Amino acid sequence: MEIIRTVEAMQRRSEQLRASGSTLALVPTMGYFHEGHLELMRVGRKRCHTLMVSIFVNPTQFGPGEDFKSYPRDEKGDLAEADSVGVDIAFVPNTDEMYSAGSQTTVHVGKLTTHLCGRSRPGHFDGVTTVVSKLFHITKPHVAVFGQKDYQQLAVIRRMVEDMKMDIEIVGVPIVRETDGLAMSSRNSYLSAHEKRSALSLRKSIQLAATMAKGGEQSATRIKEAVEKLIRSHSDTVIDYVAICDPHTLDEIDTLVGESLIALAVKVGKTRLIDNGLFGEPPSHE
Ligand code: PAJ
Repeated sequence: MEIIRTVEAMQRRSEQLRASGSTLALVPTMGYFHEGHLELMRVGRKRCHTLMVSIFVNPTQFGPGEDFKSYPRDEKGDLAEADSVGVDIAFVPNTDEMYSAGSQTTVHVGKLTTHLCGRSRPGHFDGVTTVVSKLFHITKPHVAVFGQKDYQQLAVIRRMVEDMKMDIEIVGVPIVRETDGLAMSSRNSYLSAHEKRSALSLRKSIQLAATMAKGGEQSATRIKEAVEKLIRSHSDTVIDYVAICDPHTLDEIDTLVGESLIALAVKVGKTRLIDNGLFGEPPSHE
């Protein structure tokens, strides 16, 4: 596996590979790999001749008081794992490489970023779209792979790619979970054993919403109330949001019609966790 640390060397390498007819897949990450990240890499591996992964803890997507400084990092371990799943190139820049002195350009996606996490993390998605645009310009992929764990992030990136006419196929990968149902996340390493049990309330509440909808409940408000009650019954949980929305616009809905998205953000102890699930009938295309 090649390790590339500078923007210039990465751009040159991608250009060379493209010229030789190779197709390129990119998996953007902030490192501290778990099975979710590795699954994205396996999907990318199958899609293109060359598989690239980027590892960069992006400061501009963390708000003041968030965990940028303490975000878990393990470059050596990550590189070994990336190598083991067949990554060809790891792009591992430092902050000065990614943000030149005097940098003053950002990429902003509109309404989609005002919902859900956008509301509780102002500026977060500008940081994400800005860094992902840079990564696209640096690594020049044909395909980029993202996880549905960050459902809104995936929707925002799809919107950006469409709006900016970027010639990149965005591939979404289903959420990878621990055997107990907890969605894998680099931030799970912050949780104590007790907090891990409380964190299971996220998954349980997604299942509860699906069960209620299956039983004929059509009121999103009643489902939200039941979900909030379930989460609050677990210790050390503080709800940031529980939202039931249209899976495409992310607008909140009052009444279920067709497929809906339930998206959650909950603080368990000091750790903010997110999870989501689609439920209800997808529209029939007959
Ligand atoms: P990070 O949190 O490291 O996640 C990298 C990718 O892994 C994202 O696409 C995320 O959705 C996916 N992922 C994380 N946990 C997952 C799980 N349990 N199942 C499936 N996919 C999972 O997301 C980011 O980094 C950053 O915002 C980034 C896009 C790299 C921009 O800085």
